[in-house]
Amino acid sequence: MSVPQFHLRRAIASDLDPILALERATDLAPHWPPSTYADILESNALGAPSIPRSLRNGWETEIQRCLFVAENDNSLIGFAVGLLHPAASSRTAELESVVVSANSRRAGIGRALCRAVLDWSRSQGATEVVLEVRASSSAAVALYASLGFTTTARRPRYYQDPADDALLMRLQLE
Ligand SMILES: CC(C)(COP(=O)(O)OP(=O)(O)OC[C@H]1O[C@@H](n2cnc3c(N)ncnc32)[C@H](O)[C@@H]1OP(=O)(O)O)[C@@H](O)C(=O)NCCC(=O)NCCS
Repeated sequence: MSVPQFHLRRAIASDLDPILALERATDLAPHWPPSTYADILESNALGAPSIPRSLRNGWETEIQRCLFVAENDNSLIGFAVGLLHPAASSRTAELESVVVSANSRRAGIGRALCRAVLDWSRSQGATEVVLEVRASSSAAVALYASLGFTTTARRPRYYQDPADDALLMRLQLE
């Protein structure tokens, strides 16, 4: 298999449609409404905090999100989303989503996208990164473990359609 060349960058507004197409084509990806991605893209452009308008309640000024994309020959082949939780003492970031197109996998793109989110989290002052993943998502669990994440808890039957346990994983940032 040839290894696709790729580069990473912060997402921009024109990435919305290809991000949605890839997300919709990927069963194991978290599925969010287009407005959620649009809000993140808007905040990426402005360098402002991001949380969907429908969820804003006053403390969101401390919430920040990042969205990175991987490209190959001007085609979007992956993306990842990170979130910085507001907290008084320890700053916790969350790796919310990482998706790579089916024909571009096992070429290091998922790892590179996750590392971009980890670097962004560190740059925002986060001291740890947490995530939640379907226990049956063996590729994702292996990817996270390869980055140093360890499982901290298991939530039985947390997901539906299809039913699945959730694994909570955590990485202490250096
Ligand atoms: C999970 C996913 C993002 C991995 O992307 P990827 O680009 O193929 O991952 P990488 O090539 O960077 O793999 C990095 C490491 O993760 C592990 N890994 C990735 N896919 C794996 C698989 N199918 N089986 C076993 N280990 C795997 C390996 O340790 C791999 O390192 P190696 O190739 O040197 O052995 C991709 O499979 C995907 O999009 N899956 C569907 C969506 C999803 O489940 N997302 C996670 C929940 S948001």
